[in-house]
Amino acid sequence: MAVLEILTYPDPRLKQVSEPVTRFDEALRAFIADLEETRRAGPGAVGIAAPQVGHFQRIVIVDVSGARRPVPNHGHLVLVNPEITAWEGYAVGREGCLSVPDYTGNVIRAERIHLEARDPRGEVLAFDMEGFEARAVQHEMDHLDGLLFLDRLVSRRNDLFRRKKYR
Ligand code: NI
Repeated sequence: MAVLEILTYPDPRLKQVSEPVTRFDEALRAFIADLEETRRAGPGAVGIAAPQVGHFQRIVIVDVSGARRPVPNHGHLVLVNPEITAWEGYAVGREGCLSVPDYTGNVIRAERIHLEARDPRGEVLAFDMEGFEARAVQHEMDHLDGLLFLDRLVSRRNDLFRRKKYR
C-alpha cells in the first residue's frame, strides 16, 4: 500500500469528470487500499475521492463514525459508482477538504438522501442518510464531477474562512 499525493486547488485536474468503474478486480481493490491509506494519513479527513489523487474513477470513501460529536452514520463506506436517487430538505454546514487545505466554507446541501452504489466487489449497496454523513457523501461525490466546495459557496466574502491549521 502507498500514501498517494493529494492534488490541491487550483490544480486544473480537480475539474476533471471521473469515469464509472467497469471492472471490479484486484487492481480496483489495491487502488482503494491506497486511497484509504491516503485518507488516514491526512489530518482527520472524513472522506476522500479518487480524483483527489489524480485517479479519475467514480470512487469515494466516507467515514464519519469518528466525528467529534456523534452523528447518525453507517460506519466506514467505500462507494463505487455512487448515485443519489432522492433528496429531502436543505441545511447549511461548514466543510473542509484535503484539496483546499487553507480554507473552510459554508455550503448548502440536502439534509437527507437516498444513495445507491456498488461495493469494491460489485455488490449493490443502498443507504438512507442524513445530516453530516449525507453532507460528507455529497461533498465527496462533487469531486467526481470536478466540483469543489468552493464552487458551491453562495458568497466567497461571507462563506469562506481561512484556517490556521488543518485539523
Ligand atoms: Ni473534498
